[in-house]
Amino acid sequence: MKKSKHFIAVIVLIGIATGVLYIIFSLMFRLPVAASAEAGPIDILFNVHYWIISFLFALIMVIMLYSAAVFRRQPGDDTDGPHVHGHTGLEVGWTILPTLAVVGMGIWAAVILNDVTSPKPNEALIRVEAGQWFWRFHYPEQEDVTSAELVLPVNRPVLLEMEANDVLHSFWVPEFRVKQDLVPGQVTTLRFTPTLVGEYKVRCAEICGTGHAQMLANVLVVSDADFVAWVEEATQQVEFAELEPVERGQVWYAEFACNSCHSVDGTPTVGPTWQDLYGSEELLADGATVVVDDEYITHSILEPNDQIVSGFNPNIMPQNFGELFAQREEEVLASQGVEVDIIEELIAFIQALPADELEDLNE
Ligand code: CUA
Repeated sequence: MKKSKHFIAVIVLIGIATGVLYIIFSLMFRLPVAASAEAGPIDILFNVHYWIISFLFALIMVIMLYSAAVFRRQPGDDTDGPHVHGHTGLEVGWTILPTLAVVGMGIWAAVILNDVTSPKPNEALIRVEAGQWFWRFHYPEQEDVTSAELVLPVNRPVLLEMEANDVLHSFWVPEFRVKQDLVPGQVTTLRFTPTLVGEYKVRCAEICGTGHAQMLANVLVVSDADFVAWVEEATQQVEFAELEPVERGQVWYAEFACNSCHSVDGTPTVGPTWQDLYGSEELLADGATVVVDDEYITHSILEPNDQIVSGFNPNIMPQNFGELFAQREEEVLASQGVEVDIIEELIAFIQALPADELEDLNE
């Protein structure tokens, strides 16, 4: 076969292999739905990388395999191969082309990064607080509503100002394609514009202890009207005078984020579930057993490190709930003239579980 024919054969094979590899890549590393404005340019970058990687792999493998197969030693041929001594043009080429490619991709990525992180008009400011192991979202522009779910109006640029309470965490919603660490003692920011109404999850992308894998929160991208309705509901004052102790307990359960560590439906999390808890017998880490009654629950809230249930870890539950509850009780008394007893009402709530009998209260 003539030299030029080998050349054409190799080029055609490289073309085919590049296409096949690209298809395999895009099937293997398929990204979730793109739900933010930033996802567009970032996905294009991803795609170009897939093409380049496919081409480079094909280039090397096809030339190597083709040479090994087509120019293999013939039977009876014991001569040495021809001695080749470098090729200046080739060496200059394979230095300059990759340099241009890498620098070019770098510049392109820097332009996109600058675009994605630059301030946008009419940004909605939301403060993100993260700790072991919860996410909490504060809306300073909406009467400081605090929420365990991140609710966002669709197509409005968002600015997150984020702080960690204890160790490094990382805010990551794969559908938005952006990610940012939270650093104790620093405020880090993240910008994006959600463009697709739907339900997503923010997950922590920085190993932060035993509860890391469960450090999830719902992200709801909603229409403008739904967002206004949500804010209205969230800013409504709870009228404690109108609530039964059980209902108050349910309010506290959400307000003090007990729900981030204690499920009410038996789901295992970093703390014991509250389902069927009251009256049950618990084995403690030190081998003793206790019956879950008012006294035990009260003690567990005020001194959470004292009687750890077997299979759970100490130093996870905050130790200042006594203080926080007293403050809140004073506040309710001052603003509504109602005497609430948060621990007593939480116990009433726990006693009333399993939750399916309480589902109406959630509405
Ligand atoms: Cu927080 Cu991992």
